[in-house]
Amino acid sequence: TADLNPVLLPLDWLLGTWESDEPGEGCFTTIKPFRYTETLTFSHVGQPVINFTFNAFHAETKKPLHRECGFIRMQPGTNRVAFMIAQNSGLVEIEEGELTAQQLNLQSQALARVSFAREPHVQKVSRVIQLRPDGRLEQTVSMATDNQPLMQHLHITYRRQTS
Ligand code: HEM
Repeated sequence: TADLNPVLLPLDWLLGTWESDEPGEGCFTTIKPFRYTETLTFSHVGQPVINFTFNAFHAETKKPLHRECGFIRMQPGTNRVAFMIAQNSGLVEIEEGELTAQQLNLQSQALARVSFAREPHVQKVSRVIQLRPDGRLEQTVSMATDNQPLMQHLHITYRRQTS
């Protein structure tokens, strides 16, 4: 296996597979609150790019629900991070933000969707991904839609499965 590209050393704490330790919580004013499980993978092939997959499932029925995959880049010599994300709902996003210690603060910079995407359409996404002192990874996602202001949609913590 390839050595991690040095540009990505500040993100080495993300690499591997993460499983939700207890179900995550989903909410939004317009929907019924729900619980979900999720598996994350972050890998690399030696390029200055991390490849990722986020696969979410219904907590009770285990049916596959939301999926995201994409790439992460860092601007060399800075703490600037970019996520390029494709979602199974028909949404694609560029999110950018900053890495501070082991916390990523990301905001959508560009959103696009398939012409027949379900409404309401997402207008903004903001996301915090952080490694907690207890070794768990935590993700919080907020969004704004056509008819709702920015508010939390997801909160979940994960335990590392492999390193
Ligand atoms: C609903 C976006 C991630 C599960 C929604 C809605 C939007 C949305 C726009 C409809 C809200 C409304 O009707 O007002 C997103 C975005 C995500 C994301 C942008 C990631 C950045 C997830 C994940 C799950 C999930 C990881 C985990 C299972 C649901 C469920 C609903 C929902 C169950 C309500 C039922 C439905 O509309 O399908 N989401 N979502 N979402 N989302 Fe997400």
